[in-house]
Amino acid sequence: MIAARRTGSTMGAEVTGIDLSHAMDDATFQQILGMFLEHKVLVFRGQKVTAPQFLAWANRFGRPEPHVLDQFHHADYPDILILSNVVKDGKPVGLADGGTYWHSDYSYLEIPARATTLYSIQVPKLGGDTLFADQVAAYDDLPQAMKGRIDGLVAIHHYGNRDDMDLASRTKAYPPDERQKAERGIAFLHHPLVRRHPLTGRKALYAVSGTSLGIVGMPEDEALALLRELAAHSTQPKYQFKVRYGVGDVVIWDNAAVLHSATLTDPADARTLWRITIKEKERPVA
Ligand SMILES: [Fe+2]
Repeated sequence: MIAARRTGSTMGAEVTGIDLSHAMDDATFQQILGMFLEHKVLVFRGQKVTAPQFLAWANRFGRPEPHVLDQFHHADYPDILILSNVVKDGKPVGLADGGTYWHSDYSYLEIPARATTLYSIQVPKLGGDTLFADQVAAYDDLPQAMKGRIDGLVAIHHYGNRDDMDLASRTKAYPPDERQKAERGIAFLHHPLVRRHPLTGRKALYAVSGTSLGIVGMPEDEALALLRELAAHSTQPKYQFKVRYGVGDVVIWDNAAVLHSATLTDPADARTLWRITIKEKERPVA
């Protein structure tokens, strides 16, 4: 029997009773989708999947889109991004130190990510956890005056980490080159600051850290102060849920409902995961 056990305070659950290497019938998928929408982050411990099986799992949630950093794609399955700090023959086998700041995946694209799923292959002795922060609960808890102030505001986004533009830093966003930027249409774009979930209809703070650099019609210093105030509120420990990986763990999260952040690892302590990012069908709406 498939069962979800809540492991975080406001979100996050471990799901047991399912082998993700097997094709899933529609009824089973609907059950998993219900759990996903309720808990926002699901963890499936100790799975064993091949690249095509992992892709088949991700495809149930929507259409994957390969990451802009194509040098780190899986050689045979470009929808899979390799996250790794391993260096082989002098070359990194994957993206190291990716996303070590609070963000929502693909919020720098017109059509951002619906869900992101990871499959853990090599687990470091220390670090490498993923932190999540519940943006629905954080929005719900805002004072009415703040909700009135921010409902309807539109944030300006661009690829990067607002709070770390230093390219020598390990917590920057790894920069795409000019070709990659042009191919993906990476530019300044707009998303609602308070976003309505495309499937549940619930409101959440959307990407108030990471790619948000300003607010339409608001002086920059005022906008940044507001975004930082909202980010400080919405990433408080009471909204957080931490995943510590074991080998074979599959995790999936809802980018319209949570922020997430990777944690740094020792470069000598091997960490490798596969990642697939599934796109929304439409632009975010307020
Ligand atoms: Fe991410």
